Amino acid sequence: MNRGVTHTPIGIFDSGVGGLSVLRELRRQLPAEDLLFLADQAHVPYGRRSLSQVRDFSREITSYLLSQGAKLIVVACNTASAAALHYLRESFPEVPFVGMEPAVKPAAEQTQSGIVGVLATPATFQGELYNSVVERFAKGVTVLKDTCQGLVAQIESGDLDTLATRTILEKALHPMLERGVDRVVMGCTHYPFVIPLIEEVAGPEVEVIDPAPAVARQVGRVLDARGLSKPGASLGAVQYLTTGDPAKLSALLPRLVGEENLVESLHWDSDRLI
Ligand code: DGL
Repeated sequence: MNRGVTHTPIGIFDSGVGGLSVLRELRRQLPAEDLLFLADQAHVPYGRRSLSQVRDFSREITSYLLSQGAKLIVVACNTASAAALHYLRESFPEVPFVGMEPAVKPAAEQTQSGIVGVLATPATFQGELYNSVVERFAKGVTVLKDTCQGLVAQIESGDLDTLATRTILEKALHPMLERGVDRVVMGCTHYPFVIPLIEEVAGPEVEVIDPAPAVARQVGRVLDARGLSKPGASLGAVQYLTTGDPAKLSALLPRLVGEENLVESLHWDSDRLI
């Protein structure tokens, strides 16, 4: 692979700040890589939209990231992965994609109580991907689920540790805890930002599973297999884009990814990004 392609960015997208839970892990594991992150905050939350609408957004965002030179696309959103991953791979057959899949497999392998919980959006639970991972990997294990209504909005506002956020989590987790859950899967990329609060509510007996480290490892494997990894030790550049309010996202970056950066603005013009 020529130097030009290895030195183009990894494109990453989500409906909002959730994809940053994947980005920070990519930064940890693959620090040399340049990253181009797009938050579609004009349309957040995706989780209450139809799968076909999320698929249309995902197609246009992918086209945009490719037009900016992205060498691989990380669908850093469980909802968009459920709605569009299969379709994106068919529509852009030459492009490597890495998507999110609810981490039911490790939860089912590790559980002692035989009861695991999944927190994800309504659209993710409706998608075929969720049913297929439960069918394939959760044999003999009870899988409880909750959509944590309102939690994405709380995290978008930076309310990671407020009473309202705790109340949403208590409502989701208390019934699971009563049933004896001992593993809770983050089936939405926004939710890892409230893991400290989830751990407080759930207590030390419950392990929280965030798939972001596994997803970042998979990105590294795919880049290596295709000869696309960026060589060298210098820290890659990160560019942030949003279809929402760039100042608002920029203000949240230090808390969510531990670094300051400017955010550029992008607009939807009917169904095209400009
Ligand atoms: N972060 C997303 C996910 O992983 C979407 C949340 C939303 O926009 O509803 O599902």
